[in-house]
Amino acid sequence: MKRRAVVTGGAGFIGSHLSNLLQRNGYDVTVYDDFSNGSGKKNLSADIKIVRGSILNIEKFKTACKKADVVFNLAVKPLTMSFDRPEEVVRVNDYGTYLVAKACTELHCKMIHVSSSEVYGTAVSIPMKEGHSLIPHTIYAASKAASELYVRGFEKSYGLQMVIVRPFNSYGEYMRTDLYAAVIPKFFGRLLIKRSLIIHGTGKQTRDFTYVEDTCNGIMLADQTRNAIGDTFNIGQGREVSIKTIAKTMIKEYHEITGKNVNEDLFFVAQRKGDVMRHLADISHARKILGYKPVIPIKEGIKKYILWSIDNSR
Ligand SMILES: NC(=O)c1ccc[n+]([C@@H]2O[C@H](COP(=O)([O-])OP(=O)(O)OC[C@H]3O[C@@H](n4cnc5c(N)ncnc54)[C@H](O)[C@@H]3O)[C@@H](O)[C@H]2O)c1
Repeated sequence: MKRRAVVTGGAGFIGSHLSNLLQRNGYDVTVYDDFSNGSGKKNLSADIKIVRGSILNIEKFKTACKKADVVFNLAVKPLTMSFDRPEEVVRVNDYGTYLVAKACTELHCKMIHVSSSEVYGTAVSIPMKEGHSLIPHTIYAASKAASELYVRGFEKSYGLQMVIVRPFNSYGEYMRTDLYAAVIPKFFGRLLIKRSLIIHGTGKQTRDFTYVEDTCNGIMLADQTRNAIGDTFNIGQGREVSIKTIAKTMIKEYHEITGKNVNEDLFFVAQRKGDVMRHLADISHARKILGYKPVIPIKEGIKKYILWSIDNSR
């Protein structure tokens, strides 16, 4: 029999890639999403069932999960929203996760909780292991750290079968391009209108950018590995790259792909509040226990993203 999975936030950026990956790998997939963000059904394989609902509506969520073997919890309010609507972020990311964990416990369903590298704050030791201190810089990061603790609480008190994964910055097709967009789609938007790319701070801040298919593979492996239960895993590329390097790479790749003249100037503005200065994942634990191995290097991933974005901006 097929393994039955429910993916909360499954219409979002990572969620839609994950849902499609699970479906290709023989899972019976239901997406549970309130469509408050995300690109809707259009990026999801036709065989995937969709239930429109909020994780804050536990009765509806439990009905959607009745036959599920595993819930992948990705529903989230984004980091940038935590500056202007922090209560909303806390309500969904924390109370929502609490409800998902409660439902999974009551239904005896496994929970793969997708947290974030943001929980660490700026690296105090490099590369960052799972035992690195948690010093959140933003309300979003705090909400993700707290969400892990609720899931852990259900494990310890009530025996919830759970795994926590902490993806580092993921990028790729289907990333949101609205007000709350991340740096890579923002850079692409500027390239498209031939304006200089805007960098917050010095551009020397680093991230461990991970192509979304690698991220999703790590999340799926967290379910498929028996001895992962109860554990926490970094999911990253294991490479550190500065925002300035990302900007320059995007300028170069965009020029090579389109042959168009590009504004090569970088425009520096004030540092964003709560910005993490350095991130580099130690992925040895995920490699050893999950057999996780990222395969898409940053240059290749950026090229894929630009090609897709050009197609989708027509
Ligand atoms: N994007 C990254 O670089 C990154 C890095 C680390 C961790 N993560 C984690 O991965 C997960 C997915 O992130 P993403 O970037 O795909 O986000 P996203 O914003 O693209 O997707 C989130 C989805 O959750 C849905 N949602 C929001 N509130 C909901 C609610 N109350 N009930 C049901 N659905 C709701 C939205 O409609 C959207 O489809 C999150 O848990 C996030 O913390 C993301």
